Amino acid sequence: MSKPRKTVQSLRSQLWFNAPKSAGDHKRRRIRQAGFTTEDFKDKPVIGILSTWSDFNTCHAHFPQRIEEIKRGIWQAGGFPAVIPLQSVSESFSRPTAMLYRNFLAMEAEEAIRSHPVDGVVLLGGCDKTTPGLVMGAASAGVPAIYVPAGAMLRGHWRGATLGTGTSTWQAEADYRAGLLTQSEWEDLSQSSVRSTGTCNTMGTASTMTTLVDVLGLSLPGASSIPAIDAEHARMASAAGRRIVEMVWEDLTPKDIVSTASLRNAVITDMAISGSTNSLIHLVAMAGRLGHDLSLADFGDASEGIPVVCNLMPAGQYLMEDFHFAGGIRALLGVIAEHLDLSVMTATGRTLSEEIAGAKVWNEDIIRPLDKPIYPTGALVVLKGSLAPRGAVLKRSAASPELLRHTGPAVVFKSYKDLHDRIDDPALEITRDSVLILQNAGPIGAPGMPEWGMLPIPKRLLAEGVRDMVRISDGRMSGTSFGTCILHVCPESHIGGPLGLVRDGDLIRLDVDARQLDLLVDPKELEARRAAWQAPKPHYERGYGALFSRHVTQADQGCDFDFLADGEATLDPEVH
Ligand code: FES
Repeated sequence: MSKPRKTVQSLRSQLWFNAPKSAGDHKRRRIRQAGFTTEDFKDKPVIGILSTWSDFNTCHAHFPQRIEEIKRGIWQAGGFPAVIPLQSVSESFSRPTAMLYRNFLAMEAEEAIRSHPVDGVVLLGGCDKTTPGLVMGAASAGVPAIYVPAGAMLRGHWRGATLGTGTSTWQAEADYRAGLLTQSEWEDLSQSSVRSTGTCNTMGTASTMTTLVDVLGLSLPGASSIPAIDAEHARMASAAGRRIVEMVWEDLTPKDIVSTASLRNAVITDMAISGSTNSLIHLVAMAGRLGHDLSLADFGDASEGIPVVCNLMPAGQYLMEDFHFAGGIRALLGVIAEHLDLSVMTATGRTLSEEIAGAKVWNEDIIRPLDKPIYPTGALVVLKGSLAPRGAVLKRSAASPELLRHTGPAVVFKSYKDLHDRIDDPALEITRDSVLILQNAGPIGAPGMPEWGMLPIPKRLLAEGVRDMVRISDGRMSGTSFGTCILHVCPESHIGGPLGLVRDGDLIRLDVDARQLDLLVDPKELEARRAAWQAPKPHYERGYGALFSRHVTQADQGCDFDFLADGEATLDPEVH
């Protein structure tokens, strides 16, 4: 049932601007200080533009221009725009890992909304963690919000080949380490892979998350695949500015838009696009903020019924730009329509069914028909077993088929530093059948669950032509990565999970068809190891790191903070 339209008197910003006595006058005076007249903002919805721009987030370098275009749309529709900069959570520059700061961004977005006189917000993000962070914060704040995705960068080219961000450079890096590329060839290729601003152009985490947020109805439908520097992207930005003003009058919030059915649509789409494994964590966290339960089992179930029809790297061969001109997400949703509930709401106020009507596939090699997928069902699988009692994740579509059923002896690395210190040590006892284990890469143990899960293959084995091995960790993997990498092992080793009890030579059995991951060690021996296990010292004693370590949940719960995951937004405090 639709809500009553907002009136000027019921706008949240009026709490500030029409506050009694001198309080309201002070707020109006201070806006005029910036050169505005009373007519510029009087009785208008105030729209916050939450921007994750910084010079360190090179995927967002076009945001200053996009902000002007969003403002144009807001003015046109009778709103008053106000930019609120947030931290930019650059995937490339944030250390120890951008994931440590996703929840920080979510808190910052929620509090920025709560503490300012905004009636609605435009969320401007795209680089991996910015999408879930902004959506989580806006969902908790509970005001109307529309997401403007950064758009992907242009495709890369090198010596006649097409390069996809991340995927192609990971492959080339292995060749470089194996001595097949010179230093200058490697640098030339690396530079050629990043031709413009915009997010990674493979179906990595950034594109997966912007696609899924599009499917959830939180962007203008189809916005997610528009290339970052295309004029269409600028037009989409100003259209979003116009639309958010109307959403304020309609009081259309993220919780009004996203339903259990739209979350299920997102999970199904995630399988059809062979989305990033990171999406499992982010979707669970976003669902929690939106008031819905989503579990790893929901992904496992969806995975069984839907093939991969989107032929994009790393599972396939094309890039986001190609996807857009093949019809983009609206066309893809048309292909998988029989698996979806198209009656769900979108940010436009229309249903998904109305929004994808007429969308066509223009290239059936890029967006395949259901009966000609690039991969059958089960692209992302959830594994359980004695090594991962609460679950682990494998992107089967990017793994080596011959390794999906494998038993091998563990080669254990206690930390990322230990891994890099010893992986190329000629004395390391390792064969192509070994199973590489990385401990202490989880949410608390690393900290922040970095993308260390695509463990490097030892140089010696690379030179022998080995390009994949079974690799297991409680960390994550870049969405642009590939290989038989089992990730998100839960509970993590740092808090006493079985992964932390593995020792060199223990046999590990992976059986993907049976969805099993087991540590083949005698239970009595394992019990003795557990009794002797001592919790490592915490990484942080103070500051945000300490807050993170004390309150972050495990991967199967979305790694949100326990004190933010549930509950309603706090009411606006009285304004003075
Ligand atoms: Fe920003 Fe990949 S580094 S999207």
